[in-house]
Amino acid sequence: MVNAVEWKEGAVRLLDQTKLPTEVVFVDCKDVETVAKGIKDLWVRGAPAIGITAAYGIALAAMKISAKSFDDFYKQLLPSCDLLAATRPTAVNLFWAIERIKETAQAHRTEPPDALKKILLEEAHAILREDIAMNRAIGKFGAALIQKGSGVLTHCNAGALATGGYGTALGVIRSAWEVDKKIAVFADETRPVLQGARLTAWELAQDQIPVTLITDNMAGFFMKQGKIQCCVVGADRIAANGDTANKIGTYSVAILAKEHGIPFYVAAPSSTIDFNIASGDQIPIEERNHTEVTHMGGKQIAASGISIANPAFDVTPAKYITAIITDKGAFKPEELIKLKISRA
Ligand code: MRU
Repeated sequence: MVNAVEWKEGAVRLLDQTKLPTEVVFVDCKDVETVAKGIKDLWVRGAPAIGITAAYGIALAAMKISAKSFDDFYKQLLPSCDLLAATRPTAVNLFWAIERIKETAQAHRTEPPDALKKILLEEAHAILREDIAMNRAIGKFGAALIQKGSGVLTHCNAGALATGGYGTALGVIRSAWEVDKKIAVFADETRPVLQGARLTAWELAQDQIPVTLITDNMAGFFMKQGKIQCCVVGADRIAANGDTANKIGTYSVAILAKEHGIPFYVAAPSSTIDFNIASGDQIPIEERNHTEVTHMGGKQIAASGISIANPAFDVTPAKYITAIITDKGAFKPEELIKLKISRA
């Protein structure tokens, strides 16, 4: 499996996911501005991958700083942190990673700037390594919840492409496949940007995990036919009460699952939980460029001159979520608080 993001010879190497599935193209970002563009324009996307990329982006910006004191170094670093923080508003991992790198710098303020540069890069590497380890743990906890022979529906792409590797929702699917649960995977195509069709289906095909691609409006049909026994999705931000922001359309899938008595699981690392907000009402929802709705592959598919809306995410209320599968285990939404206590 290719890496969505990695540090390569002094640059942040991103797989340009806008080109998938027909082309595998990497971009070596040599400055923080290009890294920010890569996040904004979806070369890299998916909450954990965005966080990892931002951490590397700050490390890259740090390399170019010339400063004699910590205060001067930190003052020069902050605009890059702000630039990255302004790229996408919903995925909390972005802000979590930026904070972690800033805190690391502060914790080592007595080090000379040249040593600090190495420390920040090492912290970005640690964020990447930890993310993969968390995904493996999520996979294991999640696979235990899946019955043998299940049809498993996923929405968007919460796979290796959206993380440091292995994936969250796709980590659960990979792990279930590895332990021979004989699952049948269904992937929603995920309009408007088609992360399901272009990325999830491609990623599973690369691993030779069979997948059936369906359009978003087919999920209810297959649930009614008894082809789907559970849903597993990722998350961009989980509020303290378990309300979960994820790719637009996730909320509709959750309601369909409830109606059909099908368990609905959210898989996410603990870095996706935002204990600073009480409920999903406080999660900012990104509104993206309207051409994502009006055009497909550069071709206009909608009438001209009409009104368009393009919220990139929706919030699934906790009451529709059977369990949140984290690297620390699976929790009912109302049990998430236990994680806050163990974090303190
Ligand atoms: O707009 P995107 O592609 O960044 O949205 C991604 C999603 O909604 C994913 O499901 C979520 O970030 C989880 S990724 C492990």
